[in-house]
Parts: sequence; C-alpha cells; structure tokens
Amino acid sequence: MAEDPRDWEVETRAVRGGMARTGHGEISEALFLTQSFAYDSAQAADARFAGDAPGFIYQRFGNPTTQIFEDRLALMEGAEMCRATASGMAAVQVALSGLLRAGDHLVAGRALFGSCRWIVSEWLPRFGVETTYVDATDLEAWQAAVRPNTRAFLVESPANPLLEVTAIGAVAEIAHAAGAKLVVDNVFATPVFQQPLALGCDIVVYSATKHIDGQGRVLGGAILGAAELMTEAYKDILRHTGPALSPFNSWVLLKGLETLDLRVRRQTENAGRVADLIADHRKVRRTIFCGRPDHPQAAMIAKQMSGGGNVIAFDLGSREAAWRFLDGLQIVDISNNLGDAKSMATHPSTTTHRSMPEAERLQIGLTEGWVRMSVGLEGPGDLSRDVARALDGA
Ligand SMILES: Cc1ncc(COP(=O)(O)O)c(C=O)c1O
Repeated sequence: MAEDPRDWEVETRAVRGGMARTGHGEISEALFLTQSFAYDSAQAADARFAGDAPGFIYQRFGNPTTQIFEDRLALMEGAEMCRATASGMAAVQVALSGLLRAGDHLVAGRALFGSCRWIVSEWLPRFGVETTYVDATDLEAWQAAVRPNTRAFLVESPANPLLEVTAIGAVAEIAHAAGAKLVVDNVFATPVFQQPLALGCDIVVYSATKHIDGQGRVLGGAILGAAELMTEAYKDILRHTGPALSPFNSWVLLKGLETLDLRVRRQTENAGRVADLIADHRKVRRTIFCGRPDHPQAAMIAKQMSGGGNVIAFDLGSREAAWRFLDGLQIVDISNNLGDAKSMATHPSTTTHRSMPEAERLQIGLTEGWVRMSVGLEGPGDLSRDVARALDGA
C-alpha cells in the first residue's frame, strides 16, 4: 500500500511533504519561475477556469513551487490546507479580512505585534469592523468582550514581546460558543512546538520570514486551517487582491522547512542557557522565557507547547541600561527580526512596538527597560560570553 504522508513523522514531512517531481527525478524541488501557464486547447482553458479540470492558471492564484511549500507546511501543521502569502502581515490581513464584514466585531489579545495592532486599530475600522482588546491571559475578559456581532478572535501566543501565553483551547471554546472563529498567530512557538489547530483554533497564521526562513533572506507568510473554511473565507480574496508569495520565495521557504525542526531545537537549547545566565545576572530585574519554570504561565506552557522557543525578554530597568546592553554586544546583532540563525536583540519600545501608544505599552507591562532577544545558532560559549559582557556593562 502507498505511504500516506500524513502518517509520517514530522521530520519526514518536513523534507518530503508535498514533493511533486517534474519527471526529471530532481531531488531538490523545481523552481517554477513562471507567471502564467499555457493550455492545450481553448476548451482546456475553459475547463480550468471553470474549476472542472485541475491545473495552474496564473501565479496570483497558485504556482507549483508555492504549492509544494503550502502542502509541506500543511502536513507539518496537521492542517487540511495552507495558503502562502507574501509576508506575515499579508497573512494576518487576509486571515482577518476573510472572516469579517462591515458591522462585525473582533476580540483581540492586547499584546500584539505593532503592525498587527495597526491592522486592528486603524485599518479594520475603516471598513466598519470594531475591536475590543482584552488581556489574553484572562478567560473572563474574552467572555465579557463577546457581542452578538462578534465574528472573530485574534491572539498571538506566546505574544510579542513579553511572551504572554493564552489558553488556546479555552479561548477557542468561548469563540465557538459565540459563533466566532479563533485566529492564532503562532510565530513565536513555530510549528515545531505548538499546533494551535489541534488545540481547537480555526486559523493559524505565520510570518514565514521568521524561523521558517530562519536565515535572513526572504519575506513570506502562511494561513492554515480546514479546507472548507479556508476555501470559503480566503480563496477569492487571495485570487483577486494579490498577496501571493513569489515562487522564488516559496522555494527558499520550502528549503527552510527541511531544517526547521533541527534549527529551532538547537536555538531553543541555546536560548535556555542564555536565559538562565540572564536571569541570574545582578543587573536584570526580570526575565521571561517560555522554557523556564518561573514563566508566569509555566503550567499552561507545559500543556500546550512542547518547547520554550528561542525568544527571551528581560528587563534592565531603564532605556539607558537597555541601550547600553545592546551597544555592548559584539556577536549578537541589534536587529528587530527573530527566528534567525544569527542571534539578535532589540529594544521593543523604540522599535517593534514604538507605534503603540505609551499607555497601551504600559498596560501590557512593556516599560523602557525591556530587551527582546532571539537566540540563534552560534556556539553557546560565544553567546554566553557576549551576553554576559554586555550585561556587565549595562
Ligand atoms: C508575531 C508576528 N506576527 C507577524 C509578523 C509580521 O511578519 P512579516 O514581517 O513577515 O510581515 C511579525 C514580525 O514581523 C511577528 O513578530
């Protein structure tokens, strides 16, 4: 009997999932750098446009290389369907637009990446969608925010930058009882450590720019969920509004998936060591890392994540100390990206979260002393020395 890729171990899905060879027997997946496709006859074109015959039509609708990336990520995530987008923000934007109409209401965790907050606070209201922000760790707050017209919930878990964790299953139940869909941004956990669909959510979004590329090259995003919902909510939006992922970026990202598991596990191992060093340092007021038992939601993490991830947040007490730390780093880069092979650290309140009004930053506990660090694949000895020296100088 033929092997069913859905039964494979995740490592096998990561390197072989979605493989569709051209007939040349290529080992590395083919890059189809083509905008459009030719038909054998006018009748064949008619059948393809009508959806009666399989096949590609135009790069904005789909592409063979992009489809390998989509099928591979769907298999790794345990999703029926994945659609790739040009960036993580395109994924978030499409994921919400497809579920909401004028007059609808959204409930969102208040600790959101700056651009996600812009979409929710500035963009959606232009189209008549109102939002209530909640403390995502408070189940009663989610429940209390529900209105008769609530159609979607949005949460990042762990959230950027202070790594708050949401009880995904419980929030999904509240959403479903209200007739709403739950969208989870799973960037920080990665598909390696958390499968939100299995926990009960409806739609997962990724910035593939982060760990999935993991080597600082291309932007990309993905939306995953059940085929029926994905088709109903997103097929036409993706086709007609044009957030398609390029075939070249799809190819880079599908090669990234092959090593995702290895990279993320090693980064997480490195992050564990660095987090312990940071937590024990006299200059540090507070350290948050999903892999440490002192994370405020360690019990929830143990239930829904199988690893702590590679991001650490720590409070040095003031902007001056945080900047001295960043300026004292010799190996780790000052950069706002994350999930990369290269370690990087940033000062969220003046970079990734600077567009968030100060009062809202304070509401999520983001004072000016916080630094966010994404731990990479450098040698653990070098990383520890660099971070310890920068902390001494902070
Ligand atoms: C949690 C989260 N979601 C979405 C995004 C947006 O992804 P992209 O930069 O690929 O558009 C980012 C980072 O940029 C992020 O950290």
